[in-house]
Amino acid sequence: MDSPEPLDSLLHEERVFRPLPQMIIEAGINPQDLIAARARADSDLCSYWEEAAEELDWFTKWDQVLDDSNAPNYKWFTGARCNIVYNALDRHIETVNKNRLALIWEGEPGDSRQFTYYELYRAVNKFANGLRSLGVTKGDRVVLYMPQLPETVISMLACARIGAVHSLVFSGFSAKNLRERIREIQPRVVVTVDGFYRNGQVIRLKEAVDSALLDNPSEKLESVVVVHRANVEVAMDSARDYWYEDIVRHERAHAAAEIMDSSDPLFILHTSGTAGKPKGIIHSHGGYMVGVHRTFKWVFDLKPTDIFWCSADPGWITGHSYLVYGPLLAGTTTVMYEGHALYPQADRLWNIISKYGVSIFYTSPTQIRTLMRFGHRYPDQHDLSTLRILGAVGEPFNPEAWIWLYENIGKSQCPVLDTWWQTETGMIMISPMPVSVLKPGSVTRALPGVDADVVNLKGEPVPAGKGGFLVIKKPWPAMFSAVLNDDRALVDHYWGIIPGMFYAGDVARKDEDGYFWIQGRADDVLNIAGHRIGSAEVESALTGHHDIAEAVVIGVPDKIKGEVAKAFVTLIYDAVESDELHKELIDHIHRELGTIVAVKSIEFCDELPKTSSGKVKRMALKEREGL
Ligand code: WTA
Repeated sequence: MDSPEPLDSLLHEERVFRPLPQMIIEAGINPQDLIAARARADSDLCSYWEEAAEELDWFTKWDQVLDDSNAPNYKWFTGARCNIVYNALDRHIETVNKNRLALIWEGEPGDSRQFTYYELYRAVNKFANGLRSLGVTKGDRVVLYMPQLPETVISMLACARIGAVHSLVFSGFSAKNLRERIREIQPRVVVTVDGFYRNGQVIRLKEAVDSALLDNPSEKLESVVVVHRANVEVAMDSARDYWYEDIVRHERAHAAAEIMDSSDPLFILHTSGTAGKPKGIIHSHGGYMVGVHRTFKWVFDLKPTDIFWCSADPGWITGHSYLVYGPLLAGTTTVMYEGHALYPQADRLWNIISKYGVSIFYTSPTQIRTLMRFGHRYPDQHDLSTLRILGAVGEPFNPEAWIWLYENIGKSQCPVLDTWWQTETGMIMISPMPVSVLKPGSVTRALPGVDADVVNLKGEPVPAGKGGFLVIKKPWPAMFSAVLNDDRALVDHYWGIIPGMFYAGDVARKDEDGYFWIQGRADDVLNIAGHRIGSAEVESALTGHHDIAEAVVIGVPDKIKGEVAKAFVTLIYDAVESDELHKELIDHIHRELGTIVAVKSIEFCDELPKTSSGKVKRMALKEREGL
């Protein structure tokens, strides 16, 4: 196999940051506890996770913690009955948490809404009843094409409460993309908004839903529910479309939580992988709940007074696990912001932190790189002293940005936790805890109960300092249970590549201290601003344009977004290359896939390098670009 070299910027960072003594004194899990937890999990994985499961409420306990008799179809907490929403809401309203803030939401124009646990419970129940009145029952699917709004959280929980499977489609994805998701998922209901605010503009989502639903891509679809947000005019089909407020107006604020089997599906979330089309990753109630709850509380060393802000969109797994489910399971206050980080100016995030007294801020390297361009002037204008812990996820965190965050936002008092995980893992897997010794650029070590390693294609561990493939050697509770409409994927893409191990698709190395350094994807998946986009998806969008004969797409480094797409195309015989065509092709990619696909450039070629069997060689083009 290739032995990829570490990124330059990672190579040159040798500084080590030790936890402040106060952090160790106050930590719920101190360094000795961490060592003990690792030892316990290493010697008896099931009892470690069983103890984590005991912290939650179950209608019926499990017969078995882990059924591995049909690996890799692992089943967690078999025989157990539960509902994740019961744990995220009902459990808390029996306690002093009833009147605690569950959700603080801020709109881009500056409006704000807040929900206590009791208020959120009531809102969720009303919509749960509303969905039931639309005929949604256990096992039905509901697509949510929604931005960062309280109703997004409410809809997710309302679905889960009645046993319906939610599937969020990121609001930055195009109508075409949405149509494809609806076709695959076959939802009974789609929930959306009239429009929402982003960078001073109104983004009209209902309009996109209407175009995605032309000729009805879901035979099961009966209703579209529309939340009022931007008050823009929308077309309402009287046979199909309902306003959200009309649906909930007369509903009762109590709705029985459906009794779910631990392995019943909770949600489907699409993500790009090696194969051409994005894969619908399925997570289930029981194991996901246990893994997310434990990792949320431990990684962020949760305190009863914390105000937690994860700035990821709920349309991604980070939003699912650590904006919605993790914080609510733990009974903490979660913050959500609708809009753009630079609107109306580059201090918006710092303003939100000081306004609500955020104590834990979980973000992405791209967001930090975007904001550090403006220097420390903006952070200095705000009181950031409530911050205790900083975290990041989604892409390699270059030490320069890590240290900027540590010094300018955390004022050298807050640990920066670089957390590695995936849509498939459901929960944080490799990450420091606040008491860990930190090395900027490294995600440090696997959490207790997670058996991660760097191996070659035969599954043999590679020596320290050498590049290899990141694998997880034992199952973990929040693991995905299946891939939508693809029974072979579990083996073909994940557990069969290096037999017996979960292949994450990342290239990494471990150093002499056993610290992991993630270097990027091992496959043809681009990581643009922390978002997984398959090269094949962009290629297929390009070849769908009438002037393009062939296309190949690679990732090239970018100072802010980490990576952006670069395309090489050949034209059909009567097409002519021009600046207009260049611009049109980029617009075309954005229309097909969404504007998150940042494209550096498109190079017009006479021919593309091919293998003897006619396959285009991405590697050859990468080499040509000096990558
Ligand atoms: C990348 C996001 C470096 C990695 C939660 C992984 C990271 C993919 C890190 C998953 C990190 C995630 N350092 N790279 N801390 N965290 N990645 O499914 O390539 O959207 O495979 O889940 O993001 O992306 P996904």
